[in-house]
Amino acid sequence: MSAPAPSVTLSPAAPVPEPLGTPGTGVLVTGGGSGIGRATAVALAEVGRPVAVWDIDAAGAAATVARCRELGVVAHAAVVDVADSAGIPGAMAAAADDLGSLGGFVHAAGVPGAAEVDDLDDAVWDDTLNVNLRAAAIICRHLLDPFRAAGPGSSVVLISSIEGFFGSSVLTAYCASKGGVLGVMRSLAQRFATEGFRVNAVCPGAVATPMLEPAFALPGFREQIEERTPLRRIATPDEIARPVRFLLSAEASFITGAHLTVDGGMTAVTAI
Ligand SMILES: NC(=O)c1ccc[n+]([C@@H]2O[C@H](COP(=O)([O-])OP(=O)(O)OC[C@H]3O[C@@H](n4cnc5c(N)ncnc54)[C@H](O)[C@@H]3O)[C@@H](O)[C@H]2O)c1
Repeated sequence: MSAPAPSVTLSPAAPVPEPLGTPGTGVLVTGGGSGIGRATAVALAEVGRPVAVWDIDAAGAAATVARCRELGVVAHAAVVDVADSAGIPGAMAAAADDLGSLGGFVHAAGVPGAAEVDDLDDAVWDDTLNVNLRAAAIICRHLLDPFRAAGPGSSVVLISSIEGFFGSSVLTAYCASKGGVLGVMRSLAQRFATEGFRVNAVCPGAVATPMLEPAFALPGFREQIEERTPLRRIATPDEIARPVRFLLSAEASFITGAHLTVDGGMTAVTAI
């Protein structure tokens, strides 16, 4: 006869982390027709979240939505200029209707507004600040009702940049806009928390998207960035999209008012 098995006292099982697709509510992605916005929409579709893509580039938005539908989710494309505040409420209602719920928002629409202060004019300043910064706040202003309807777990991720912390002489308006995004994020985090919603930001370093193509065309630019990045390379858009998806998910349920730097270590070791 075999000896009785020793009795073992097990500690209670650790809670199983929520999957990246929870909550399963719809997510609005601005700038979803290209680059980081497109990669984010597709990453969300991969885990089953319906997505609405806003962009001024109709063909880009349509291509993203086609890919998301191939992945089996409901997807909605709309040509929306995020700098046109008056158009936001109607476009948001259409997106929420099509998706069935709206419980997530990613502001990835952006323009570089490249100009040293010597060449800075009102048009560059206004365009850069309106698209990168003002739209983030104005869209969030209209999100509270759909978030309440979508229920617990709703959250926002604003795309800032490492230029939110560091200066670059050729990006005066851009640096202002990206620093401003961090301020808006912190302010909204406090307001949205009163309703149980979260607001965070992601600060990418250099990412291989159309926005950076003019810079990559400059001799030595790519090599200089790679040399100053401990991981010795430029990020792919997917490498930004996956952290964004995490912050939108229930796995990040106690993270709010935070910025996540995704730069291959660049700003940990050097000023840009
Ligand atoms: N690429 C990088 O190295 C990098 C680094 C840090 C932060 N970012 C930020 O990431 C975000 C996404 O940039 P990306 O690199 O994917 O660039 P991208 O040019 O590939 O995509 C930007 C998208 O925004 C859209 N857009 C521009 N103005 C708009 C408007 N008024 N209304 C609606 N859509 C508009 C464009 O049509 C485009 O599809 C931006 O906020 C950018 O500042 C990019």
